[in-house]
Amino acid sequence: MDLQWWQKGVVYQIYPRSFQDTNGDGVGDLPGVTRRLDYLASLGVDAVWLSPIFTSPMKDFGYDVADYEDVDPLFGSLADFDELLAGAHARGLKVMLDLVPNHSSDRHRWFLESRASRDNPKRDWYVWRDPAPDGGPPNNWRSFFGGGAWTFDETTGQYYLHQFLPEQPELNWANPEVRAALLGAMRFWLTRGVDGFRVDVIWLLGKHGEFPDEPENPDWREGHMEHGRLLHVHTQDLPETHGYIREMRAVLDEFSRPGFERMMVGEIYLPLEKLVTYYGKGDECHLPFNFLLLTMQDFSAGAVRDLADRYDAACREYDGWPNWVLGNHDQHRFRTKFGVERYRAAQTLLLTLRGTPTVYYGDEIGMENVAIPPGRAQDPSGLRQKDNPEASRDPERTPMQWDAGAFAGFSTVEPWLPLGEHASVNVEAQEADPRSDLNYFRALTLLRRQLPELHGGEYVSLDAGHEDVFAFVRSHAGQRVLVLLNFGAGDLTLDLSGHASRASAHAERAHVLLSSTWREGHEELGGVRLGGYEALLLRLP
Ligand code: NOJ
Repeated sequence: MDLQWWQKGVVYQIYPRSFQDTNGDGVGDLPGVTRRLDYLASLGVDAVWLSPIFTSPMKDFGYDVADYEDVDPLFGSLADFDELLAGAHARGLKVMLDLVPNHSSDRHRWFLESRASRDNPKRDWYVWRDPAPDGGPPNNWRSFFGGGAWTFDETTGQYYLHQFLPEQPELNWANPEVRAALLGAMRFWLTRGVDGFRVDVIWLLGKHGEFPDEPENPDWREGHMEHGRLLHVHTQDLPETHGYIREMRAVLDEFSRPGFERMMVGEIYLPLEKLVTYYGKGDECHLPFNFLLLTMQDFSAGAVRDLADRYDAACREYDGWPNWVLGNHDQHRFRTKFGVERYRAAQTLLLTLRGTPTVYYGDEIGMENVAIPPGRAQDPSGLRQKDNPEASRDPERTPMQWDAGAFAGFSTVEPWLPLGEHASVNVEAQEADPRSDLNYFRALTLLRRQLPELHGGEYVSLDAGHEDVFAFVRSHAGQRVLVLLNFGAGDLTLDLSGHASRASAHAERAHVLLSSTWREGHEELGGVRLGGYEALLLRLP
């Protein structure tokens, strides 16, 4: 097996505002990440992805970029970044940045120029349209954050497009100058030494050039996110987007050499069949983010098996390397969503399926959604859609819980978002407990690193004979690991005697590599015991 770092490694996402504050302003910063590098290395992860750190008015907390080639003072300086990067590399950790190419901040000098006059050379860098005959917006396109996707600009009498906040005008990717500018920003950071990018809303880059209305979504129901009212056939997944992505990929390839690739993982919320087209012919995304687990409604053994089988097969068909995600800064914490009792099984799933796992900070200690009192709400998506309790992303963005102290070791002052329950759910307490969630996470990453079957082997699911159990085998060079996940509360005994390899037909004993309840020893394949909600990794004889 000749695998790249981004294939065999585990990626860890840091939301910098919430990881570690070092200057006492209640907001995390880059020196905070640097301070915690030993912790990151101790987790057994291989790469760190930082949500945006660039100069920004922070209307969408950094996803509104005012300078693609500098660090926001809130987070530190370019020198702080260089220090972080050097410290990470010294520990064998790769660093990925969050590129936001679809839109900039309205404070970016490009937009200030663009909006200054209709004949400004940067006018066409953004998406400007005349009003409809009645003076209203050019079409019915909607913002992800609620409301229309167009804002009227008095000075020049046209509307500009924004699929997020009005303070996030969309860059016009059809304009080659825009593409060259963004590719230049990529080169800036690659030259500085970053190892890759997570690319924000990559599937939205292309837009229909004639701006037709989008059709109503017949499946939309009251209470769902407002943006879902329309079918986004003219703003998402357009054919030209693949060409744009190939241009980005070519820049990464410029900075790669055999044995060391710089990579990109693209943010894409699309159904499986469309998602896998973003591998291209090995010339688009290294990894199109697989959010299929993240957005699952029915987290049951059968549904997960079906999904894993279909996804694995689709990746094979496209010759793409798979990847898995259970949490990010836009989705509720999986421990809350899927239930505390399924937490370790879910974590095991993430770290043992075939493909690169991306872990969201705090999930390794089992952080949960935090209830946000109305006066503390921060997320513009939630604030603009107050009638929809699902719209706010604050609950999953709360500060990392380092210790049981007043501010959880995150800060010396009240943090920007309230802290979760951190009396026991904190790194310090869990370091001291060999059976903690944190140490379970480490046991998983360690096994994954040690065993080629787990970080690179084949995947095949099997019928374990009980509807609550998802079972699969990871294999490489004749070595096989059986993963058993019990999604139900009942204790079970499974007959898996048919799964011993022929060569060792008499050896029916399977050694326990890891159990979520820390059982050790072995199991007889004819009667494998599996506790309620247990995750069990067996070495198949
Ligand atoms: C996706 C990001 O993950 C999200 O946090 C952000 O609000 C939007 N893109 C807009 O950049």
